[in-house]
Amino acid sequence: MNNDSTYLKSLFQINPEITFLNHGSYGACPKPVFEDYQKWQIKLERDPVKFLTNDVYEQLEISRNELSKYINCDKNDITYFPNPTHAVASIIDNIKINPEDEILTTNLEYGSCDRMWFYHGKQNNYKYVRSPITLPVIDDNTFLQNFWQHANNNTKYVFISHITSGTGMILPIEKVMNEAKKRGIKTIIDGAHVPGHINLDIKKLDPDYYVGACHKWMCSPKGVSFLYVKKEYQSNMQPYLKSWGWGIEFDEFKDSTEQKTPSRYQNIFQWQGTRDMSAFLTIPAAIKFQNDHNWHEVQDRCMSMIINARNEISTLTQIPKICPDEYLGQMSTIIFPVNDHKVLKETLYHTYNIEIPTYTKDGHTAFRISLQGYNSNADVETLINALKALL
Ligand SMILES: Cc1ncc(COP(=O)(O)O)c(C=O)c1O
Repeated sequence: MNNDSTYLKSLFQINPEITFLNHGSYGACPKPVFEDYQKWQIKLERDPVKFLTNDVYEQLEISRNELSKYINCDKNDITYFPNPTHAVASIIDNIKINPEDEILTTNLEYGSCDRMWFYHGKQNNYKYVRSPITLPVIDDNTFLQNFWQHANNNTKYVFISHITSGTGMILPIEKVMNEAKKRGIKTIIDGAHVPGHINLDIKKLDPDYYVGACHKWMCSPKGVSFLYVKKEYQSNMQPYLKSWGWGIEFDEFKDSTEQKTPSRYQNIFQWQGTRDMSAFLTIPAAIKFQNDHNWHEVQDRCMSMIINARNEISTLTQIPKICPDEYLGQMSTIIFPVNDHKVLKETLYHTYNIEIPTYTKDGHTAFRISLQGYNSNADVETLINALKALL
């Protein structure tokens, strides 16, 4: 089926007046998947009791099954969450960290997760250690040296992004995993940007915990994320919110606990009070949409456009790139020589109709360009022309 950018643009719902170069923040949902989402919402409204007491469980299982094939894991090892922050919070809430233990992370983590770990460390009196990653990253070895420099015998968990948010880099996560295993350190991977962006093979990667978002790059509507937990840790999991699927192990609740699936992990997390789970049910439609449009081709096209865009902009500014090309997927963060990132963002949006996120880090202003199937070279040219005018 046709997958050129003009055709795909007609399938997405982004305002055509805007040059949209910010897919990475919240993703975008194409019409056929959005229609599937609305179909589930209508089914829910037509017969809410039947839907929420029976149908939704059946459909959740179908959806998890499709997602588990897509990321290669057991369908009962993943459960849906509305967003990655929520899923990471559930991990933090469920692991035992003693005061002498340390969590090793980077200085490039997403703000909400960084805040949660920081606060949990303060409350529980353990060290949350951010290894500073020197930019530009030269290669995997220098990255790994930077990362592991603050590991020690007390390091109990590694928490790291598979693809970083603000800096938009695909980190050498397999190499991090290998080293963590050698050192006997457990791994918690924040893969918010991974599903639908680069290949994810959970069985091969073998993390202890993995969080992913489906609404960013997998084409689902907003509010679909998952938490993978290795089987051996699932019995330790307790949902913050205890509802009807929880409590089977207690005499008081033995008879009243709803066991909609054979998996305790599913039962305790999937029912979290009345809520609209329609977005979770769209995963089969999202995967079908990508398959129908030969999404690997779309990803490859976007990745080569990203490399070309970064080359052109770096030639324009003469500022070094922050990482090698191999670290790039469909996003790239590029330093731009202006002082105020908020003014840059406002100017690009209001004067040039360009939606793109901007940042300040270590005294540098930068923006992050994301390219999805609906973007064309003309979008990149619009950005470059605006940047030329701002230099
Ligand atoms: C790497 C990373 N982790 C976690 C998140 C958290 O996402 P949310 O705010 O939707 O929970 C994001 C969001 O962009 C992210 O980029």
